[in-house]
Amino acid sequence: MKTITTVRGLRISLGKSALAPIGFVPTMGALHEGHLSLVRNAIAVCPVVVVSIYVNPTQFNDKNDLKNYPRTPGSDLAMLAGVMRSNDIVFMPQDKDIYPKEDNRRFSFGNLDNVMEALHRPGHFNGVAQVVSRLFEIVKPGKAYFGQKDFQQLAVIRELVRQTGSRVEIIGNPVIREADGLAMSSRNRLLDPELRKKAGVIFAALSDAALLIDKNDVPAINEHVRHKIESAGAFRVEYFEIADDLELKPLQSKSEMKAGRKYYACVAVRAGSIRLIDNVEVPVM
Ligand code: PAJ
Repeated sequence: MKTITTVRGLRISLGKSALAPIGFVPTMGALHEGHLSLVRNAIAVCPVVVVSIYVNPTQFNDKNDLKNYPRTPGSDLAMLAGVMRSNDIVFMPQDKDIYPKEDNRRFSFGNLDNVMEALHRPGHFNGVAQVVSRLFEIVKPGKAYFGQKDFQQLAVIRELVRQTGSRVEIIGNPVIREADGLAMSSRNRLLDPELRKKAGVIFAALSDAALLIDKNDVPAINEHVRHKIESAGAFRVEYFEIADDLELKPLQSKSEMKAGRKYYACVAVRAGSIRLIDNVEVPVM
């Protein structure tokens, strides 16, 4: 694989290869098996794959989170070298490449930017849209790979593509988990070891939600999930919602479920200073 750090270098390299479709996997580094699964899925279909590693400052509403975000370029490159082919590219741009001037664009995603993550991370999805649209402009991918782990982000990206009339195909990919069910995340390595041992409870509680929906309604499930997670240790549930994957409208009752839609139980949990999110599909009742 090639490692490229400038927009010009990337354009020259992609121009020379003229392979299509270009597969694109945007990341913020601190890579784990979840990221690698996206890279493998892209490689299976695309003759050239670009993986970007860029910690995007505009999507961090909490400056401490930005400062503490893990940066592990050495091990990221070693992991990618294990799966990428000789003509694939790791793109590691600097701030000046992504934002040659301040990005003042304001996107509007309606309800998608008004629920769950958006209520707890103001401006977050605007920053994600800024960096992803800029990266699409630079890489010009045919297919772009995102994880279902960031459920709301995936819906926002699909809407961004719809609004901008971009031709890139957005591919959603399943959540990759640790042996105890904890969704893999770059932030997991920041967890206090005691909390890490107990963090499997998040997936266990979401899995309960998928079973409980048969005989219970949303408020009772909400109560169960919160209680199960919060009684396991020093965890605080920021939100728990069951929402569809198109409009992301949180359900008050399962009677609002529409046939033909998919629904996901979504949770955000504070574990000390670390914030974890996860989701599990629930059947339509
Ligand atoms: P990051 O958190 O590094 O994630 C990069 C991609 O990997 C995202 O599409 C995310 O959903 C996916 N991913 C993370 N953990 C995963 C898991 N356990 N299983 C499957 N996929 C997983 O998401 C971002 O970066 C940024 O917001 C970005 C899109 C790069 C824009 O800056």
